[in-house]
Amino acid sequence: MQPSSNVKIPEEHPLSSTKALESFGNELLAWYDEHKRKLPWRTSPSLYKTVVSEFMLQQTRISTVLPYFDRWLEKFPDFASLASAPEEKVVKAWEGLGYYSRARNLRKLAKEIQAFDAPPEDPETWQTFPGVGPYVSAAVTSISFGSASAVADGNVVRILTRIFSIDEQFKDGGTAQRKLRPLAQALLFSNRPGDYNQAVMELGATVCNRRSPLCMTCPVLQFCRAGQSGDAEAFPKIDQKKVQRLRIDRLWMVQDGALLLHKTPDDSKRLAGLYELPRPEDLPDSFRPKKTVHITTKRRAIANQSIEERILRAELKSYRKLSDAIDLEFIPFEKLNEVTLSGPHRKWVEELQKKLDFPEEVEL
Ligand code: ADE
Repeated sequence: MQPSSNVKIPEEHPLSSTKALESFGNELLAWYDEHKRKLPWRTSPSLYKTVVSEFMLQQTRISTVLPYFDRWLEKFPDFASLASAPEEKVVKAWEGLGYYSRARNLRKLAKEIQAFDAPPEDPETWQTFPGVGPYVSAAVTSISFGSASAVADGNVVRILTRIFSIDEQFKDGGTAQRKLRPLAQALLFSNRPGDYNQAVMELGATVCNRRSPLCMTCPVLQFCRAGQSGDAEAFPKIDQKKVQRLRIDRLWMVQDGALLLHKTPDDSKRLAGLYELPRPEDLPDSFRPKKTVHITTKRRAIANQSIEERILRAELKSYRKLSDAIDLEFIPFEKLNEVTLSGPHRKWVEELQKKLDFPEEVEL
C-alpha cells in the first residue's frame, strides 16, 4: 500500500520516490523487529493496554511509566473495572505520574467505551473521547486497528526535521507537531501502521537522541540529510521558552500526630483534589504563623518553571477554628497513605517525617 498525504517531497531528497519511501519503511521496521524493547503493553497487546500506555506515556518517560503500568493493570484490569472505580481511587493510582487530568479522562473514556457494543475503530471517533487528541487517536487506532494514521510527537518532530534538514524555527513543540503531521503522514508505512508509528518513536527514544544522536547505528541514515552531513544535533529548531523562576514557601505544621495539608480545589486546572503542604497564603489570615523555622529548601523544574520551595516549620496556636477552613485538613501520619499527595510532596513528607521524628544527634 502507498503512503497517503498531499505533501510533496522535493525531488532532490532521497525519499522523493515511492520506492525510496517503501525501502525507508522496510529498513525501519526490520530494525524495529530486531531491536524493539520488551514493554508490557507490547506483550499480548490489547486495546485497553494500548490506551492506558499511551495515556501514561504522554509527557512521561517509559522508565517512569513501567511500574505504574503494571500496578494499574492489577488494580484496573479492563475498561469495565476502570469505569466502575471511584474517581479518588483512580487518581490515587496515578499518584506521582503528574498531569492528573489524564487519569480522570482515562476513567471517563472507559465509561464512554462501555456504552459501545464494540469499540470504535476510526481516529475521528477516538478524538471525541475525553483526553484524546491527534496523538493518542493516531497511536491507539493504528496500533489496535491498523488505521493508517501517523503520530507526530516530539520524537517524530526530531526525526523528520533531521531527515529533511528543516530549518524552520518553530515557536514551540506543539506547533512543530501540528505543522509536521502531514509530512509524518506522507512517510507512514501503511502495511503496518501501528508498528511503523512505534518504530519511529522507538528510533527517537533510543537512537535519534536529542543530544549525541547515534547516527552510525541508525537504520535510515541513508535517507537523512542532517545525519549525512553530521549536524543532526542542530535540529529541530524550536524557540526556547524563557525560564520562569518561582519561590514558594511551604509550611510544616504538626499537631497531635497529624500533618496540616492543603487540598487543591476540585475545579483547579492543575492538581485538582490533590494534597500538598500548605503555603502561608492558604491559611486564613489570623492563623498564619508569625514565626517559622527553616527546615530545608527543595528545588525542582516543571516545564519552563524553575521552582525553589522553602519548607518552614511552624506552630499552630489553635486548630479548633482552623478545622472550619475550607481545603485545609490535619491528616494523621498513619493515614497519609490514604490520601493522594502530589509526587514531590509525597517524597518530601516521607523524608521530613523520618528526619523530624529522629532529629540528628550532635556530639558535644
Ligand atoms: N512513546 C509513546 N508511545 C510509544 C510506543 N507505543 N512505543 C514507543 N514509544 C512510545
